[in-house]
Amino acid sequence: MKATEMSDAPSTPTTQSAQEPLALGTAAGAHVIAVTSGKGGVGKTFISANLAAALTRHGLKVLVLDADLGLANLDVVLNLHPKITLHDVFTGRASLEEAVIEAPGGFSVLLAGSGMVEYSRLTPEVRNQFINVLQTLTPRFDVVLLDTGAGISDVVLFSVSLAAEVLIVATPEPTSLTDAYAAIKVLATQQKRQHLRLVVNQAARAGDGRAITSQLQQVLNRFVTTDSGRPVRLLHLGDIPADNAVREAVMRRQLLLQGAPGSPASLAVAQLANKIQATLLS
Ligand SMILES: Nc1ncnc2c1ncn2[C@@H]1O[C@H](COP(=O)(O)OP(=O)(O)OP(=O)(O)O)[C@@H](O)[C@H]1O
Ligand SMILES: [Mg+2]
Repeated sequence: MKATEMSDAPSTPTTQSAQEPLALGTAAGAHVIAVTSGKGGVGKTFISANLAAALTRHGLKVLVLDADLGLANLDVVLNLHPKITLHDVFTGRASLEEAVIEAPGGFSVLLAGSGMVEYSRLTPEVRNQFINVLQTLTPRFDVVLLDTGAGISDVVLFSVSLAAEVLIVATPEPTSLTDAYAAIKVLATQQKRQHLRLVVNQAARAGDGRAITSQLQQVLNRFVTTDSGRPVRLLHLGDIPADNAVREAVMRRQLLLQGAPGSPASLAVAQLANKIQATLLS
């Protein structure tokens, strides 16, 4: 990748609405971390679920919130069939207590459910309900992971704006990197993020992630400046190798950490959890 500006045309719809981070996690209780991406299908839900399981093993109280309101699939990955979802909470049919359920890895989940399709447009009401839910939940947990949708639509940017820290997931594919760049640019300029963290998933070789991070950083240094006048910093959090065990675990609807704990991808997720504990949670 050369240090020329990448296309700003991601594969998902774009909208321009400035949303500075509310960063709810810094105020009370849990560290709120958004797991997001430019391109879809790069491993956000797989990483959110397995990272939650790994952090739970550290003795932390973890919640994964299915923030992909339009196309939620955390329930599929975890083989959960929730009767009550965020949709019921938003419509007042159920309490938040009823909607937060335990996942196989010992962590909590709040699932969006298919009824959330109607929330794929961001109205002030949805915004407020989302904020209320998160404000109620953060004091009860150590970590809240927001498994967001991909791209830079209003809903995605809004859910990311609720997090103090952002993990961008990308694969080494050029399309994924171009879209990651577009997402980083929007988060740096609209949300005034000074730094973002990159996880390279489906890495082919050790060292891929570090090289990709520095290539992206070079482009950002030239073309994206934050309000402070400094370029946004992209911090490499870790890599997860391409591993067939991931696909097999997803097909079995099982956590990788439980189904194939010794697999290379599982060990990489565990390492990612160690790094998060050491850098973000201490
Ligand atoms: N490290 C990996 N090795 C091999 N396959 C992987 C890996 N990570 C993810 N996958 C495959 O990619 C698929 C998509 O992953 P996942 O559903 O987590 O992506 P996503 O980013 O959440 O997608 P969406 O944008 O639709 O929400 C998985 O079902 C799995 O088959
Ligand atoms: Mg997903």
